[in-house]
Amino acid sequence: MIAHAQSQVVAPDFWAGKRVFMTGHTGFKGGWLSEWLLEMGAELCGYALAPVSEGTVSGFAPFFEELELSGRMTHVIGDIRDSEKMTRALLDFDPEIVIHMAAQPLVRLSYREPVETYDVNVMGTVRLLEACRQLKNLKTIQIVTSDKCYDNREQIWGYREHDPMGGFDPYSNSKGCAELVTSAYRNSFFHPDAYDDHGVSVCSGRAGNVIGGGDWSLDRLIPDAMRAHCTGNALTIRAPHAIRPWQHVLEPLSGYLTLIQASYERPRDVAQGWNFGPRDSEAMNVRKVMTVLQEHLGDGFSWTEQVDPQDLHEATWLKLDCTAALEWLGWAPRFTTSEALGMTAQWYGSSDPAARRQIVSEQISRMLSPLAA
Ligand SMILES: NC(=O)c1ccc[n+]([C@@H]2O[C@H](COP(=O)([O-])OP(=O)(O)OC[C@H]3O[C@@H](n4cnc5c(N)ncnc54)[C@H](O)[C@@H]3O)[C@@H](O)[C@H]2O)c1
Repeated sequence: MIAHAQSQVVAPDFWAGKRVFMTGHTGFKGGWLSEWLLEMGAELCGYALAPVSEGTVSGFAPFFEELELSGRMTHVIGDIRDSEKMTRALLDFDPEIVIHMAAQPLVRLSYREPVETYDVNVMGTVRLLEACRQLKNLKTIQIVTSDKCYDNREQIWGYREHDPMGGFDPYSNSKGCAELVTSAYRNSFFHPDAYDDHGVSVCSGRAGNVIGGGDWSLDRLIPDAMRAHCTGNALTIRAPHAIRPWQHVLEPLSGYLTLIQASYERPRDVAQGWNFGPRDSEAMNVRKVMTVLQEHLGDGFSWTEQVDPQDLHEATWLKLDCTAALEWLGWAPRFTTSEALGMTAQWYGSSDPAARRQIVSEQISRMLSPLAA
């Protein structure tokens, strides 16, 4: 039984001077996490493909470039499937913390590119974990998967950490497979019972649809909405009734950081998968998300609904039960979905890159500030 935790928050002092190797730092979540870790004084090495400008609109650069991250961290461009290059980058940097976020993260693309999706998401995870076995000063591995890793029975209850892995489509299934791979590596090479021998805690974080400034991915609701808004077009939504655990990108990131902090204090106890999602009361369907977004963006934003029965299968009901993180890590979501949508609209609504950088820093500070009583 894991001990109950006091309310725990991300502790900047913990991160100052920590050597962190992160894959996927050139992406949306990677950009936010890199900025946050650098602001807390971590020494950071990122490994990922080059940032992509596909999907951005005029006046915006890829998030990684907007944040001017390349000059502030060790920045290695490489494919996660290139074991030799990735292992060399990892060994050269010699981190104590590894955070694995590099992935092909899109459901619809996974229908078009299933083999590549499995290759990157599953074998990429295998290759990274295998490389980690060679590190001498490693203490924690954090693998980022997804709420979609579960066998989705479209149930009304949230999934718990010990529910079976599954995934209908190649992306979701690849994340279930990445969880199984992580579990097998933990059992075989980093078992909690043998912690005194290897000294490594292996955890994973499962979160849902995250929103926030800087995401320009194709076929994701908020980036699609913002592209339409910025170019003066109406958005067509495919699944107005679909319910997702929407949350600001800083929420799961705070979960990953809190979990890593806990892994230094209780390395055996926390070596497992963890859910990080919004409170049940915050679940919203797509139509409601659009309505709230419009309240923040004003009349210039509009959308139409087009339900296509021939469309690709995507889960319509997906919730996480986050009791374990709440009780045992002391982690809790900070913002309501409405606040998260407001924070997102604030970033996309700013036309000046310097102002957008400022917004990112302010939102990180807001995340770290104590909650009003
Ligand atoms: N954004 C979400 O709503 C969400 C939800 C749940 C889980 N996740 C997971 O979070 C992680 C980050 O997602 P994101 O939204 O920032 O995606 P993103 O597409 O913005 O970033 C993906 C990152 O992975 C890197 N990458 C992709 N293929 C690679 C390869 N072959 N070799 C090396 N690097 C490669 C990219 O260069 C980029 O840095 C992923 O593991 C994703 O599955 C995201």
